Amino acid sequence: MNKKKTFIYNVLFLIGAAAILIFLWMAPPETTAKLPYDDNHRAFFDMPKKEAEKQCTQCHSNEGGMPLPEKHPPKYRCLFCHKKVKPET
Ligand code: HEC
Ligand code: HEC
Repeated sequence: MNKKKTFIYNVLFLIGAAAILIFLWMAPPETTAKLPYDDNHRAFFDMPKKEAEKQCTQCHSNEGGMPLPEKHPPKYRCLFCHKKVKPET
């Protein structure tokens, strides 16, 4: 391959990479409620996710008094959607 072609392929590669980055960057912001950092939830922040998720339904169920909204999406793996985010201190 001659030098000129190599140069063009490099430019095309960079344009492609930039397009993908811009596409990812433009994705809509996540709106799902984050796991609150309060007395009810603080303990879960220092726990492996799978361990924590077993305990959510103690409260977030009909018996627990804080049921999920009726139209809640499939609830397998709570923390995959409700991200743990510690507030800045
Ligand atoms: C001890 C009871 C209890 C447990 C256990 C519990 N929660 Fe909660 N959760 C609450 C209560 C009460 C609220 C509403 C008040 C608040 O925001 O803390 C709430 C609110 C929430 C909210 C809504 C926050 C918002 O901004 O509207 C999410 C999401 C949530 N919990 C997820 C979870 C997940 C995921 C787990 C398991 C890791 C969990 N909770 C375990 C009691 C609990
Ligand atoms: C597939 C993604 C997903 C999973 C998994 C999931 N949720 Fe949700 N959850 C949502 C969405 C979306 C909403 C409604 C929009 C919002 O968060 O404001 C919601 C709403 C909630 C609310 C009410 C928040 C509020 O502001 O009223 C609670 C509490 C909650 N989820 C707890 C849980 C618990 C506990 C689990 C695990 C048993 C779980 N969720 C699993 C996506 C998810």
